Amino acid sequence: MKPLSLVAAALLAAVADASTIGEDHKALDARAKLAYSPPHYPSPWMDPQAHGWEDAYAKAKAFVSQLTLLEKVNITTGTGWMSGPCVGNVGAVPRLGLKALCMQDGPLGLRFSDYNSAFPVAVTSGATWSKHLWRDRGKAMGEEAKGKGVDVLLGPVAGPIGRAPEGGRNAEGFGADPYLQGQALASTSVGIQEAGVVACAKHYIANEQEHFRQAGESHDRGFNISESLSSNIDDKTMHELYAWPFADAVKAGVGSIMCSYNQINNSYGCQNSKLLNGILKGEMGFQGFVMSDWQAQHAGAATAAAGLDMTMPGDTSFNTGYSYWGGNLTLGVINGTVPEWRIDDMVMRIMAAYFKVGRTLENQVPTNFNSWTRDSYGWEDQAAQENWGLINQQVDVRANHANHIRESAAKGTVILKNSGVLPLTKPKFVAVVGEDAGPNPKGPNGCPNRGCDDGTMAMIWGSGTSEFPYLITPDNALQAQAIKDGTRYESVLTNYAWAETKALITQPNVTAIVFANAGGGEGFIDLDGNAGDRKNLTLWKNGDDLIKNVSSVNPYTIVVLHTAGPVLVTDWYNNPNITAIVWAGMPGQESGNSLTDILYGKTSPGRSPFTWGPTRESYGTDVMYKPNNGDDAPQDDFTEGVFIDHRHFDKVAPKKGDKGAPIYEFGFGLSWGEFKYSQLSVQKHNVRPYQPTTGKTIKAPEFGNFSTDLKDYAFPKGIRYIYQWIYPWLNTTTSGKAASGDPYYGKTAKEFLPPGAIDGSPQPRQGASGAPGGNRQLWDVLYTVNCIITNTGSRTSDEVPQVYVSLGGKGEPVRVLRGFERIERIAPGQSVQFRAELTRRDLSNWDVDSQNWVVTKEPKTVFVGSSSRNLPLKARLD
Ligand code: NOJ
Repeated sequence: MKPLSLVAAALLAAVADASTIGEDHKALDARAKLAYSPPHYPSPWMDPQAHGWEDAYAKAKAFVSQLTLLEKVNITTGTGWMSGPCVGNVGAVPRLGLKALCMQDGPLGLRFSDYNSAFPVAVTSGATWSKHLWRDRGKAMGEEAKGKGVDVLLGPVAGPIGRAPEGGRNAEGFGADPYLQGQALASTSVGIQEAGVVACAKHYIANEQEHFRQAGESHDRGFNISESLSSNIDDKTMHELYAWPFADAVKAGVGSIMCSYNQINNSYGCQNSKLLNGILKGEMGFQGFVMSDWQAQHAGAATAAAGLDMTMPGDTSFNTGYSYWGGNLTLGVINGTVPEWRIDDMVMRIMAAYFKVGRTLENQVPTNFNSWTRDSYGWEDQAAQENWGLINQQVDVRANHANHIRESAAKGTVILKNSGVLPLTKPKFVAVVGEDAGPNPKGPNGCPNRGCDDGTMAMIWGSGTSEFPYLITPDNALQAQAIKDGTRYESVLTNYAWAETKALITQPNVTAIVFANAGGGEGFIDLDGNAGDRKNLTLWKNGDDLIKNVSSVNPYTIVVLHTAGPVLVTDWYNNPNITAIVWAGMPGQESGNSLTDILYGKTSPGRSPFTWGPTRESYGTDVMYKPNNGDDAPQDDFTEGVFIDHRHFDKVAPKKGDKGAPIYEFGFGLSWGEFKYSQLSVQKHNVRPYQPTTGKTIKAPEFGNFSTDLKDYAFPKGIRYIYQWIYPWLNTTTSGKAASGDPYYGKTAKEFLPPGAIDGSPQPRQGASGAPGGNRQLWDVLYTVNCIITNTGSRTSDEVPQVYVSLGGKGEPVRVLRGFERIERIAPGQSVQFRAELTRRDLSNWDVDSQNWVVTKEPKTVFVGSSSRNLPLKARLD
């Protein structure tokens, strides 16, 4: 093993949370004016009685009690970037038969793999508003992960939540609303874990833009910032908006959470004790493990004290060969910088998540693919180019998931406008126009990480991608349908052949279907100036002009959009020649089939999970594209508070016709039916008054003993050192200089952490805590809401009734989403009952003073209807 570099050693052992401790006064003065994240220590340890985790805890305890310190460290520390088959790998415990855990992207199925499915991107899944489809999608993704030998699937996503419509990774999440995100995050996590794979809800938290998420990435683009951007958020907004969906996932039992690249109130996401210790593990009672995003760890012992449990991919930054943990964590435990209970808690959390989803040492699936090549034979250790062997076995894990993919992408396709042309029935002549309807000439996987805009767009780019097993283009599927129907069919699959296009679409009887797109993705790819985040909200490759031109000469124009979020339709949506507008989102491998199912009315469409504003400015929020704090961390003040997307539009432009009012509102989407809402009734339930949790935790448990003799931790003679691998052994055993260069070496924790930071004695329990998700009484049902929905139209259709609540009070949103259900296949003339439960949490605000949820005395009103702005029923909640 290599000796530590001075820099690495200095950083690793004990640099404390910069926002809280360990800085000189000058630096503190400079920072005093900046947003600040208060310290919260010690890091909460697991609760053996936590609901749903009892059995997992017992199994983890039995296993962890047998581990040596080195084995424990091995489970917490990644082996280094590209050192192992998966995007993240930790060390194995061969002595007890535990294989190296494999962490693999991502939120729409497996990345860097083969014979896997390419599921719809989450924003399309979100647009289904269907809990069972979310769960089915999660389960199918989980099954594929399991079949490949993946232990932790790096998804689903609820951060970004979609604060700015340009946000590059918004589409990895389910839509711009915390309630919708929370329901989808929880259902998807449950699905993944039902398949026996640990889900990883990410990115915690406020990772709302790609620009400046990492200093290094920004340097490459000419911005010389020293630290990542800080998302500056007040406590109320944090609870009511950004943390909300994560609490749902924690309640649902999610096994892991990924902390994010950005800083929050000037403290790094993976080192922010308030957010990890205080809110996630304290209030929410999260029992699983916190894993860092890749290179999002910026210190050693300080991250351990702040609640990080696993470092990914293990090296300080890609391929340095150094780690903040590994041998340094071993040393930290030996010298007492990191208490024994903390390393035990890290490993307990990791192993409890593992056992919770049904894994056992007996049913482990060896990892049978390799992220770094599609060849069968290659280097097992790609970084070091070592260990040649069979690394890809091409195990086909797709089963019948294509059926689900086709169905859920169709049900997540939103019809924004329809003047009667849809559904199509045996049209005489269909002409399809636009590159976005056709194939990528380089093949569906021709661009690494899907980082291009060639051919139809069915996915975003970055780590939230998978390789397509095939891609049904709209052109393929619409032509097949046309042939079946006896329809004449032609397509022009370029945006730049106007003479030919015009000649085609001006012929008699032509229904012109024009396609356009706009993508988005992760910040490591810059596509035409869209550095992850979009640089504007217009369509790409001349899409707006194409639509305008086609509709100027063809009176039966149907517009199909594949976009990662809202685009500006202002200039053309009202043109009467545009007879329909369909948002087909990012549908995955069955793209064309899903679209055809909607255009021809074979299944029911979804509802928009975000607002379509008239201008970019109308959203009131945007990405920060230029650093605003010199070379220091950009300061992104979330001054809009909880007012993003529909909450913002409702505030500034409540009525149709108001300046800046949405063109298509959140929750909107046409269907095949006409739905009448009636007979609203609200039933109040008698529940016990809310009791903040009191009392104390148990004392921090410790499992096993360890020697403090450094000689016991020397790199063993029998093991060959692999270049760049991160190991748990020490670099030197000769003296206390093992971490020479570390300014904190030899100091007690007291000298660089706040008092009590590593105290393992029983701790007071937070009032808002109690069980996974938070205080149990937050889920008491206070009201049941019922109404009748009747299909007065002439076609069977799904409907998505939505419940909004006005919580009342100054400075509160006009309404917040608090319930919905996708009711499938309501026949003409049929009436169905819709029922929703409003919990205490649904009716509460976060009270900063009492640090708890409170149902305020303000009058509250419930609304029911088919979108955030079409709410025919309302009632006061007394
Ligand atoms: C960075 C991304 O932010 C994260 O979502 C992903 O899981 C990791 N890279 C691993 O690829």
